[in-house]
Amino acid sequence: MEQTETNQQVQMPRIGDDAPAFNAATSQGNISLEDYKGKWLVLFSHPSDFTPVCTTEFVGLQEIYPELKEMNTELLGLSVDSVPSHIAWIRSIEENFNTNIEFPVIADLDKQVAMKYGMIMPGESQVETSRAVFVIDDKQKIRSIIYYPLTTGRNMQEILRLVKALQTTDEHGVSTPADWQEGDKAVVSPPKSQEEAAKRAEEEGIEYIDWYISKKDV
Ligand code: BEZ
Repeated sequence: MEQTETNQQVQMPRIGDDAPAFNAATSQGNISLEDYKGKWLVLFSHPSDFTPVCTTEFVGLQEIYPELKEMNTELLGLSVDSVPSHIAWIRSIEENFNTNIEFPVIADLDKQVAMKYGMIMPGESQVETSRAVFVIDDKQKIRSIIYYPLTTGRNMQEILRLVKALQTTDEHGVSTPADWQEGDKAVVSPPKSQEEAAKRAEEEGIEYIDWYISKKDV
């Protein structure tokens, strides 16, 4: 396992892994991963408080928060700033953008959570967390990971689309094609044998294109 200059272990969780456990101070009190059991969680890191791109992201994340909640999904931010810094920044966002940030933000001053989740990219910055997004399902498995660099703000609609796609996969046993949006047809799992492939064209209720690609309404 890789070590940082301060001898902390760097972990890089992967899709399908159990989400690393944590208990952390946040802008809304202490929170552990366990508190989210039975809910989906979008755990994201940002480089630091009081920075412009991060501020636009927080406004955007608060805008999509009600839709995430409708999908049984919570939001939890993280940076290596302190709780007072988070509080001051959240108050400034409210004053300047008329936006009340309702989700909690981890104050990861000792980088304990950032290291467990591989949120620091030492080649980009040793001191700031990059723009990581971990989608963790209701059984606390990591289902998707997105990384953006310090200088690029994330796309809020893509975060919503990703959670919706993952939940649609779980609910209907389908995959979702490129640029899929809620209401679009989903992809039926490809046949696993020649016999299944031969029968695919006769299946009811699917849009058959070829033996390996069919779609259906979900
Ligand atoms: C920003 O949020 O504006 C930002 C933070 C770190 C590096 C570059 C930009």
